[in-house]
Amino acid sequence: MKNNPNDLFGVYVHWPFCASKCPYCDFNSHVHRGPFDEDGYVAAYEREIATAAALVPGRVVQSIFFGGGTPSLMSPSATGRIIDAIAKHWTVEPGAEITLEANPTSVEVDRFRGFRTAGVNRVSLGVQSLREGPLAELGRRHTVDEAIAAVRIAQSVFERSSFDLIYARPRQTLEDWEDELKEALWMARGHISLYQLTIEQGTRYFDLHRAGKLIMPDEDLAADFYELTQELTAAAGLPAYEISNHARPGQESTHNMLYWRYGEYAGIGPGAHGRLMINNQRHATAAEKLPFEWQKQVLAKGHGMVVDDVLTWEEQGDEFLVMGLRLKEGISPARFSALSGRQISPRQIDALKGYGFVETLPNGNIRVTDRGWPVLDAVVADLAA
Ligand SMILES: C[S@@+](CC[C@H](N)C(=O)[O-])C[C@H]1O[C@@H](n2cnc3c(N)ncnc32)[C@H](O)[C@@H]1O
Ligand code: SF4
Repeated sequence: MKNNPNDLFGVYVHWPFCASKCPYCDFNSHVHRGPFDEDGYVAAYEREIATAAALVPGRVVQSIFFGGGTPSLMSPSATGRIIDAIAKHWTVEPGAEITLEANPTSVEVDRFRGFRTAGVNRVSLGVQSLREGPLAELGRRHTVDEAIAAVRIAQSVFERSSFDLIYARPRQTLEDWEDELKEALWMARGHISLYQLTIEQGTRYFDLHRAGKLIMPDEDLAADFYELTQELTAAAGLPAYEISNHARPGQESTHNMLYWRYGEYAGIGPGAHGRLMINNQRHATAAEKLPFEWQKQVLAKGHGMVVDDVLTWEEQGDEFLVMGLRLKEGISPARFSALSGRQISPRQIDALKGYGFVETLPNGNIRVTDRGWPVLDAVVADLAA
């Protein structure tokens, strides 16, 4: 991976369709019933890629990430067409990471070899739980056995793979999680993502929670879950490199690092966000979220962008802190100054050090300590002030 964050460029491709809507999920995902012209839909991606490349020409792509929704519902040939369009309009670096998020049902696993042939070299599987009861409660369409089989097949087909689990679930105890996580760490190779369940507005879980029907861990228990997760993953050789992402050193996801190091990325597809450097200004872009409205707009004007804001220096500094302080490598104060035109106040740093919330690394980076993680938002706000 290149170390100069200013050189990072990636493409995020959003596929918005899912077989069903999980009750906790607030991602831009839609269940589409009825006929679907995949070829025509993919043509809109090709068109939007051409438009984005005209805005930021000549880039070298280090990462392509198919996120969703459920991109593993695409046909391998559709995935291949999108990768080819990216390679036609930009240069894809040899060995670039090309990740596809996949759900672990047998339908999708049968397509893994096809995705590999199309150019995907990394899969991120949404396992979510290794227990049948919670899987059903989370509305998942796969069993534990199917998930385990999917992880094994992904590990044999792709050079790299990862899977996601959701923890701190309703009624889950620390003991339950310890057993489940240990099993997961036995299965994991280079990378695993572990997310604490969050209750998002607009989801079915939000309504259930408000009605008192989902008993979530309190703050102290949530902190214990987090601490246990850090201990077990570090002991298994997959320490956190970001709050929810764990990897063997060297196996970190390029896409994740590019994003949190505040690199440049094009967002393609409905609801996708991008950060593009145009005429030395950082643009924050976002596309129309509704899948077929997006397609209509792309056909009409070549892109589905509905937001294109030039970020002020101050906004760039704030975003850089919000993203970068999630990383174990921390942030470079010099890059903060270059982006924002201001300095982090030494008085603020000293005050936060006094609480044991941040530390300075030998390379000069500032990072949040284990003690500071639970109050990360407050730390970011103090440093940005
Ligand atoms: C876009 S989603 C997943 C892609 C794929 N459709 C799937 O379900 O496996 C990315 C990941 O976010 C996590 N996630 C989604 N909603 C969450 C929530 N409310 N709390 C915690 N994690 C969540 C899940 O682990 C999920 O695998
Ligand atoms: S968690 Fe994944 S499968 Fe479930 S609705 Fe969200 S994106 Fe779709």
